[in-house]
Amino acid sequence: MAADPAPVAVLGAGNMGVAVARRLLSSQHRVTVWNRTPGRTGPLVDLGATAVDDLADAVASAPVVVVTVSDYPAATTVLGTPPSGPTVVNLCTGTPAEARRFADAVRRAGAVLLDGYPTHHADRVGTADALTVYAGPRRAYEEHREVLDSLGRHAWLGEDPGLAKAAAIASAPAYHGVMVALAAGAAYAEAEGMDVADYVEVMRPFVGTVKGIWDSTLDHLAAGTWVPPRTTIDKQVRTSRRTIDAFAAAGLPPSVLGSVAEVFAAAAAMGHGSDDTAAVVEVLRSRGGTPRDRPLHDLSADAMPTPEPRETDQ
Ligand SMILES: NC(=O)c1ccc[n+]([C@@H]2O[C@H](COP(=O)([O-])OP(=O)(O)OC[C@H]3O[C@@H](n4cnc5c(N)ncnc54)[C@H](OP(=O)(O)O)[C@@H]3O)[C@@H](O)[C@H]2O)c1
Repeated sequence: MAADPAPVAVLGAGNMGVAVARRLLSSQHRVTVWNRTPGRTGPLVDLGATAVDDLADAVASAPVVVVTVSDYPAATTVLGTPPSGPTVVNLCTGTPAEARRFADAVRRAGAVLLDGYPTHHADRVGTADALTVYAGPRRAYEEHREVLDSLGRHAWLGEDPGLAKAAAIASAPAYHGVMVALAAGAAYAEAEGMDVADYVEVMRPFVGTVKGIWDSTLDHLAAGTWVPPRTTIDKQVRTSRRTIDAFAAAGLPPSVLGSVAEVFAAAAAMGHGSDDTAAVVEVLRSRGGTPRDRPLHDLSADAMPTPEPRETDQ
């Protein structure tokens, strides 16, 4: 007979804490919740959680303590009360350095940190869209798989507790860069007399088309080879230059394309002109001294269990 789901303590009842606690409750875990402002735990109590005012009672209640407060300084304050359980699962946002310092603090308190980066919004917790990557001791990751399974798909990046936040920071250039690039296109379209609403209609299908090219870039980066090229650096040098000239003719600065074109030109100058666009990583490596020999971990969809559909909104 399967063991009962492990009890879990959730520290923080903001958007993420509520989503995590709800999902754990719907997966039959006993959930104890603590929040700095006690009034916010009421809806979770209605769903079956036990709310406690004393933080020490929360951390003593379960072998897994999920931290969902706003940042590492808050998490460090909260865990000034040493956890009795062996595993702290941290989901707050921050940097690799903060995660490593937090792991040290948790270790000094006699516990173990699994540091997580939820790649999704709180309202997707526990759905097939949810993917959280974890870093920290593999033993803790394996031991608490059943709790992690309840929150959605997941993968383990390595023993270094900074790796999950490294993944978060690594996703930021694409996240922010595309936002600014879309807005730059709107400004250009408008400057050329186009209705922004028409630009948006053109861009919606374009975003789908370009995804295939981004996938190809990711495939090249994963393989570490720049041949055969899907799109060459030389072509990107020409098209980015043409676009910058067109922006200038419309009276606009190049925006993000300025630094993009500079990196393409540098890659061509390094001899990558006929290579795939992904070869620009060589320019960035040469400027930053990225360690290149770390093993890659299997993040393919097959390696990640798909959670049961969420039993929505009890
Ligand atoms: N929401 C998302 O979609 C999402 C997705 C991925 C990652 N995250 C990350 O998850 C973390 C929580 O996000 P959220 O959306 O749940 O934020 P939120 O709704 O603003 O909730 C913040 C939580 O942190 C608590 N808190 C803040 N400062 C504290 C302190 N000094 N001591 C103790 N508790 C403190 C708040 O308690 P009070 O109620 O007392 O203020 C509240 O429980 C953030 O790091 C966020 O970046 C969120």
